[in-house]
Amino acid sequence: MAQSFTNFKDADSQLLASLYGKADLNFVSGKGSYLEDASGKRYLDFVSGIAVNALGHCHPSVVAAIRRQAEDFIHISNLYPNKPQLELAKRIVEVSDYSKVFFCNSGTEANEGAIKFARKFFNRNGKPEKQKIVTFLNSFHGRTFAALSATGQPALREGFGPMPGEFEHVVWNDTEALKQVVNENTCAIMLEPLAAEGGVMTISEEMVKTINELREKFNCLVIADEVQTGVGRLGTFLGVKKYGLHADLVSLAKGIGGGLPLGMVLMTEQVASALRPGDHGTTFGGNPLACAAGLAVVNEVTTPGFMENVILRSEELKAGLAKLAEKYSFLGSVHGDGLLLGIETEKPVAELIATARENGLLVHRAGANVLRLLPPLNVSKSEVEDALSILDKACSLIS
Ligand SMILES: Cc1ncc(COP(=O)(O)O)c(C=O)c1O
Repeated sequence: MAQSFTNFKDADSQLLASLYGKADLNFVSGKGSYLEDASGKRYLDFVSGIAVNALGHCHPSVVAAIRRQAEDFIHISNLYPNKPQLELAKRIVEVSDYSKVFFCNSGTEANEGAIKFARKFFNRNGKPEKQKIVTFLNSFHGRTFAALSATGQPALREGFGPMPGEFEHVVWNDTEALKQVVNENTCAIMLEPLAAEGGVMTISEEMVKTINELREKFNCLVIADEVQTGVGRLGTFLGVKKYGLHADLVSLAKGIGGGLPLGMVLMTEQVASALRPGDHGTTFGGNPLACAAGLAVVNEVTTPGFMENVILRSEELKAGLAKLAEKYSFLGSVHGDGLLLGIETEKPVAELIATARENGLLVHRAGANVLRLLPPLNVSKSEVEDALSILDKACSLIS
C-alpha cells in the first residue's frame, strides 16, 4: 500500500542511515531550473543535484530517451554488446578525442577504475615498480577505498583505515612541491582540473605546464578527475582541453547521465591496449537506460551555441557575485570557471545557504567558507538575474 509522509525529513531520519545533513524540504517535482515542494513553492535550483542535472530537471530529450529505451530493454549485462552503449561511446570518442571508454555507475567508481587501469598499464608493460599516485591536498575523488586514499582530505579517511598505499598528496598549485615528489616510480598524477569540493580552486597555468613536463620526464600517466568539471560545466566538453592538460585517463560521472547513475573512464589507445577481459568490470556499468540518457545529454551539450550559453551565463554570474562582494563586506573573492563558481564568505556559509533557500534559491557549499553555485548548463539570463537578486536579499538578511 502506498505510504504518504507528511514530513520527509522526519521519515528520512527514522528510515535511512544518517550519513547526510539533509534540509527540511519535501520536493515533489522538478522542471528545468526549478524544483517544487509539496506546498507548491518553487525553488531556483543552483545546486543541480551537485552538478548532475546538467540540463536541468526532466529535460524533454532525456525523458524521451529513457522512455524509448525502457520499452526495448532495461538491462542485459556486459556479456553482450549493445546499441545504447555503442552509440554513447561513439559520440564520446568523437567529442573527446579519447579512443576507448569504460562504463561504470558513479564518480568514485570511475576514479577507482582509472587508478586500477594506470597501475595495470605499468604492470603489463614490465614496470611494476611504478605504483605511486600523486594527488592534491583538499581534492575530492570519492568515497571508495582507492578514491578515498586519493582524496586529499584526511578527515574523510578517519576511522576507515587501513587505506590502500602509495598515495601522496601535495599542496594545490605548488609546483615545487609537486616536482619534489614525482619521480621514476610515479604511476600517475591525479587531479581535478578545477578543485571543486575543496573550495572551487582553479589551476594555475604554471601547474598545468609542470604536470605536462613531469608526465614527459618521468613517463607517468595523468588522470584527470572530471567528474564535476566534465560535460560542459567549464564551457568546453572537457576541462583538460580548456586548460591544455595532457591527460591519459579522464573520469566522468555526474552530468553525463542527465540524472541517471552513469560514470565512465576515457582513455588513450595506449592505456586501453594494456587491459584484458577480466581485469576489471561491473554488473550495472553502462546500463542501457543510463547510456540512452547520456547520449541525449551529449547531443544537447554539443549542439551549436550550447557552450556559448555556459560562457555568457558564467560571465554574468561572476560579475553579479563580484558586485555583491563590493556591497557586503563579509563576502570575499569569486572563484571558479564556467558554471562552477564560488564566493568566499566570512559569515557562516550554512546560514547564507539556509537564508537563500528560505527565499527560493538552492545553493551549496565547497570547503569551509565558500558558497558554491552549480546552475544547470542551459540556465537562462533571467534565471541568473533572479538568483543574484535572491542572493542579494539573503546577504542583506544576514548582514
Ligand atoms: C571531482 C569529484 N570526483 C569524484 C566524486 C565522487 O563522485 P560520486 O559521488 O558519484 O561517487 C565527486 C563527487 O562530488 C567529485 O566532485
